[in-house]
Amino acid sequence: MKLSHLQKHLTQTLADAGIEAADQEARLILETRLELSWADLISQGDREVDPSSAESDLQKRISGMSLGRIYGQKNFYGLDFTLSPDTLEPRADTEILIDIARHIYKEKPPETILDLGTGTGCILLALLHSFPQARGLGIDKAAGAVATAQQNALNLKMSARAVFQQGDWASGITERFDLVVSNPPYIDSGVIPVLAEEVRNHDPILALDGGIDGMDAYEKIFHSLG
Ligand SMILES: C[S@@+](CC[C@H](N)C(=O)[O-])C[C@H]1O[C@@H](n2cnc3c(N)ncnc32)[C@H](O)[C@@H]1O
Repeated sequence: MKLSHLQKHLTQTLADAGIEAADQEARLILETRLELSWADLISQGDREVDPSSAESDLQKRISGMSLGRIYGQKNFYGLDFTLSPDTLEPRADTEILIDIARHIYKEKPPETILDLGTGTGCILLALLHSFPQARGLGIDKAAGAVATAQQNALNLKMSARAVFQQGDWASGITERFDLVVSNPPYIDSGVIPVLAEEVRNHDPILALDGGIDGMDAYEKIFHSLG
Protein backbone atom coordinates (compact mmCIF):
# COMPACT_ATOMS: atom_id res chain seq x y z
CA MET A 1 0.00 0.00 0.00
CA LYS A 2 1.20 3.53 -0.68
CA LEU A 3 2.23 5.44 2.46
CA SER A 4 -0.10 8.36 1.63
CA HIS A 5 -3.06 5.98 1.25
CA LEU A 6 -2.28 4.29 4.54
CA GLN A 7 -2.05 7.67 6.29
CA LYS A 8 -5.41 8.71 4.83
CA HIS A 9 -7.02 5.41 5.86
CA LEU A 10 -5.70 5.68 9.44
CA THR A 11 -6.79 9.30 9.78
CA GLN A 12 -10.27 8.65 8.40
CA THR A 13 -10.86 5.54 10.51
CA LEU A 14 -9.73 7.32 13.69
CA ALA A 15 -11.91 10.35 12.89
CA ASP A 16 -14.92 8.10 12.19
CA ALA A 17 -14.36 6.50 15.60
CA GLY A 18 -14.68 9.98 17.16
CA ILE A 19 -10.98 10.43 17.98
CA GLU A 20 -10.36 14.17 18.08
CA ALA A 21 -6.71 14.42 17.07
CA ALA A 22 -7.11 11.78 14.34
CA ASP A 23 -4.43 13.25 12.07
CA GLN A 24 -1.84 13.50 14.86
CA GLU A 25 -2.55 9.97 16.08
CA ALA A 26 -2.35 8.56 12.52
CA ARG A 27 1.03 10.25 12.18
CA LEU A 28 2.25 8.83 15.49
CA ILE A 29 1.25 5.29 14.44
CA LEU A 30 3.17 5.63 11.18
CA GLU A 31 6.19 7.29 12.77
CA THR A 32 6.37 4.58 15.43
CA ARG A 33 5.58 1.50 13.36
CA LEU A 34 7.38 2.39 10.15
CA GLU A 35 10.19 4.31 11.90
CA LEU A 36 9.60 7.36 9.76
CA SER A 37 10.00 11.04 10.56
CA TRP A 38 7.35 13.66 9.95
CA ALA A 39 9.43 14.85 6.98
CA ASP A 40 9.40 11.29 5.56
CA LEU A 41 5.62 11.21 5.80
CA ILE A 42 5.39 14.42 3.81
CA SER A 43 8.05 13.60 1.20
CA GLN A 44 7.61 9.83 0.68
CA GLY A 45 3.85 9.49 0.09
CA ASP A 46 4.39 7.25 -2.97
CA ARG A 47 6.55 4.75 -1.06
CA GLU A 48 5.11 1.20 -0.80
CA VAL A 49 4.73 0.09 2.85
CA ASP A 50 3.42 -2.96 4.71
CA PRO A 51 0.25 -1.75 6.50
CA SER A 52 -0.16 -4.75 8.87
CA SER A 53 1.43 -3.41 12.10
CA ALA A 54 -0.18 0.02 11.68
CA GLU A 55 -3.53 -1.66 11.01
CA SER A 56 -3.21 -3.77 14.15
CA ASP A 57 -2.49 -0.64 16.26
CA LEU A 58 -5.43 1.09 14.62
CA GLN A 59 -7.79 -1.71 15.66
CA LYS A 60 -6.52 -1.57 19.28
CA ARG A 61 -6.89 2.22 19.28
CA ILE A 62 -10.47 2.24 18.02
CA SER A 63 -11.41 -0.47 20.48
CA GLY A 64 -10.54 1.91 23.33
CA MET A 65 -6.81 1.74 24.12
CA SER A 66 -4.74 4.92 23.91
CA LEU A 67 -1.57 4.98 21.80
CA GLY A 68 0.39 5.65 24.99
CA ARG A 69 -0.83 2.34 26.41
CA ILE A 70 -0.31 0.49 23.13
CA TYR A 71 3.32 1.64 22.91
CA GLY A 72 3.94 1.77 26.69
CA GLN A 73 5.41 5.24 26.18
CA LYS A 74 4.23 8.82 26.24
CA ASN A 75 5.94 12.08 25.43
CA PHE A 76 5.56 14.78 28.08
CA TYR A 77 7.17 18.21 27.73
CA GLY A 78 9.47 16.88 25.02
CA LEU A 79 10.68 13.91 27.11
CA ASP A 80 9.75 10.24 26.61
CA PHE A 81 8.25 8.43 29.60
CA THR A 82 7.74 4.70 30.01
CA LEU A 83 4.33 3.75 31.42
CA SER A 84 3.34 0.82 33.61
CA PRO A 85 0.00 -0.49 34.91
CA ASP A 86 0.53 1.54 38.12
CA THR A 87 1.03 4.87 36.38
CA LEU A 88 -1.36 7.40 34.91
CA GLU A 89 -0.61 8.14 31.28
CA PRO A 90 0.78 11.71 31.37
CA ARG A 91 -1.64 14.23 29.87
CA ALA A 92 -0.74 17.19 27.66
CA ASP A 93 -2.93 19.41 29.90
CA THR A 94 -0.57 18.79 32.82
CA GLU A 95 2.30 20.42 30.89
CA ILE A 96 0.85 23.76 31.96
CA LEU A 97 2.27 23.10 35.46
CA ILE A 98 5.77 23.13 33.99
CA ASP A 99 5.06 26.33 32.02
CA ILE A 100 3.75 28.05 35.16
CA ALA A 101 6.73 26.94 37.28
CA ARG A 102 9.17 28.11 34.60
CA HIS A 103 7.41 31.47 34.54
CA ILE A 104 7.23 31.93 38.32
CA TYR A 105 10.80 30.78 38.95
CA LYS A 106 12.33 32.53 35.92
CA GLU A 107 14.51 34.88 37.98
CA LYS A 108 15.35 32.56 40.86
CA PRO A 109 15.10 28.86 39.91
CA PRO A 110 14.15 26.42 42.68
CA GLU A 111 16.92 24.27 44.13
CA THR A 112 14.64 21.67 45.68
CA ILE A 113 11.36 20.30 44.33
CA LEU A 114 8.80 17.95 45.90
CA ASP A 115 6.30 16.15 43.62
CA LEU A 116 3.39 14.47 45.40
CA GLY A 117 1.72 11.62 43.50
CA THR A 118 4.53 11.43 40.98
CA GLY A 119 3.25 8.55 38.79
CA THR A 120 5.73 8.21 35.90
CA GLY A 121 7.75 11.06 37.45
CA CYS A 122 6.80 13.22 34.47
CA ILE A 123 6.23 16.47 36.38
CA LEU A 124 9.33 16.21 38.55
CA LEU A 125 11.60 15.10 35.71
CA ALA A 126 10.30 17.77 33.32
CA LEU A 127 10.94 20.37 36.04
CA LEU A 128 14.45 19.03 36.72
CA HIS A 129 15.09 19.18 32.98
CA SER A 130 13.96 22.83 32.99
CA PHE A 131 15.94 23.67 36.16
CA PRO A 132 19.28 21.87 35.70
CA GLN A 133 20.64 22.98 39.10
CA ALA A 134 17.68 21.55 41.03
CA ARG A 135 17.20 18.21 42.73
CA GLY A 136 13.91 16.63 43.66
CA LEU A 137 11.89 14.06 45.54
CA GLY A 138 8.90 12.27 44.02
CA ILE A 139 6.42 10.42 46.26
CA ASP A 140 3.78 7.91 45.26
CA LYS A 141 1.63 5.48 47.18
CA ALA A 142 1.94 2.87 44.41
CA ALA A 143 5.20 0.89 44.56
CA GLY A 144 4.93 0.18 40.83
CA ALA A 145 4.75 3.89 40.05
CA VAL A 146 7.87 4.54 42.16
CA ALA A 147 9.77 1.84 40.24
CA THR A 148 8.62 3.25 36.87
CA ALA A 149 9.57 6.81 37.85
CA GLN A 150 13.03 5.58 38.92
CA GLN A 151 13.44 3.87 35.56
CA ASN A 152 12.37 7.04 33.75
CA ALA A 153 14.90 9.08 35.72
CA LEU A 154 17.60 6.62 34.65
CA ASN A 155 16.47 6.65 31.01
CA LEU A 156 16.48 10.45 31.00
CA LYS A 157 19.87 10.60 32.76
CA MET A 158 18.51 12.49 35.76
CA SER A 159 18.75 9.79 38.42
CA ALA A 160 21.54 11.67 40.24
CA ARG A 161 19.12 14.53 40.91
CA ALA A 162 15.85 12.65 41.41
CA VAL A 163 14.87 10.40 44.31
CA PHE A 164 11.58 8.50 44.25
CA GLN A 165 10.02 6.84 47.27
CA GLN A 166 6.78 5.26 48.35
CA GLY A 167 4.69 7.34 50.74
CA ASP A 168 1.36 8.85 51.66
CA TRP A 169 1.50 12.36 50.21
CA ALA A 170 3.95 14.40 52.35
CA SER A 171 3.48 12.40 55.58
CA GLY A 172 6.80 11.91 57.32
CA ILE A 173 8.68 14.33 55.04
CA THR A 174 10.55 16.80 57.22
CA GLU A 175 12.82 18.45 54.61
CA ARG A 176 11.69 21.85 53.29
CA PHE A 177 11.38 22.41 49.51
CA ASP A 178 11.48 25.55 47.35
CA LEU A 179 8.71 24.20 45.13
CA VAL A 180 5.95 21.67 45.88
CA VAL A 181 3.91 20.37 42.94
CA SER A 182 1.15 17.82 42.56
CA ASN A 183 -1.38 16.57 40.05
CA PRO A 184 -3.55 14.60 42.48
CA PRO A 185 -6.52 12.36 41.64
CA TYR A 186 -9.51 14.70 41.33
CA ILE A 187 -12.35 12.80 39.65
CA ASP A 188 -15.59 12.34 41.63
CA SER A 189 -15.97 8.65 42.51
CA GLY A 190 -19.46 8.63 40.93
CA VAL A 191 -18.08 9.70 37.54
CA ILE A 192 -15.44 6.94 37.26
CA PRO A 193 -17.82 4.30 35.79
CA VAL A 194 -18.74 6.62 32.90
CA LEU A 195 -15.23 7.80 32.02
CA ALA A 196 -13.93 7.12 28.50
CA GLU A 197 -12.92 3.48 28.09
CA GLU A 198 -9.26 4.32 27.50
CA VAL A 199 -9.14 6.05 30.90
CA ARG A 200 -11.43 3.72 32.87
CA ASN A 201 -9.80 0.51 31.66
CA HIS A 202 -6.15 1.53 31.59
CA ASP A 203 -5.37 4.31 34.08
CA PRO A 204 -5.08 3.01 37.68
CA ILE A 205 -8.00 3.83 39.96
CA LEU A 206 -5.58 5.21 42.60
CA ALA A 207 -4.57 7.88 40.08
CA LEU A 208 -8.15 8.88 39.27
CA ASP A 209 -10.47 8.62 42.25
CA GLY A 210 -10.73 11.86 44.23
CA GLY A 211 -13.58 10.70 46.50
CA ILE A 212 -17.22 11.82 46.59
CA ASP A 213 -16.54 15.44 45.58
CA GLY A 214 -13.13 14.90 43.97
CA MET A 215 -11.42 16.85 46.76
CA ASP A 216 -10.16 14.05 49.06
CA ALA A 217 -6.57 14.14 47.86
CA TYR A 218 -6.37 17.95 48.00
CA GLU A 219 -7.51 17.93 51.64
CA LYS A 220 -5.05 15.17 52.56
CA ILE A 221 -2.18 16.89 50.76
CA PHE A 222 -2.73 20.22 52.53
CA HIS A 223 -3.08 18.37 55.82
CA SER A 224 0.11 16.34 55.23
CA LEU A 225 2.07 19.49 54.33
CA GLY A 226 1.27 20.80 57.83
C1 LIG B 1 -3.49 12.00 38.69
S1 LIG B 1 -2.14 10.92 39.02
C2 LIG B 1 -0.77 11.97 38.57
C3 LIG B 1 0.45 11.23 38.15
C4 LIG B 1 1.55 12.13 37.57
N1 LIG B 1 1.98 13.10 38.54
C5 LIG B 1 1.03 12.82 36.33
O1 LIG B 1 0.72 14.01 36.39
O2 LIG B 1 0.95 12.16 35.27
C6 LIG B 1 -2.12 10.92 40.80
C7 LIG B 1 -1.01 10.09 41.43
O3 LIG B 1 -1.18 10.15 42.85
C8 LIG B 1 -0.84 8.89 43.39
N2 LIG B 1 -1.46 8.76 44.73
C9 LIG B 1 -2.75 8.45 45.04
N3 LIG B 1 -2.91 8.47 46.37
C10 LIG B 1 -1.72 8.78 46.91
C11 LIG B 1 -1.26 8.97 48.25
N4 LIG B 1 -2.07 8.80 49.32
N5 LIG B 1 0.03 9.32 48.46
C12 LIG B 1 0.87 9.49 47.40
N6 LIG B 1 0.50 9.32 46.11
C13 LIG B 1 -0.79 8.99 45.87
C14 LIG B 1 -1.36 7.90 42.36
O4 LIG B 1 -0.76 6.64 42.50
C15 LIG B 1 -1.01 8.63 41.06
O5 LIG B 1 0.27 8.26 40.61
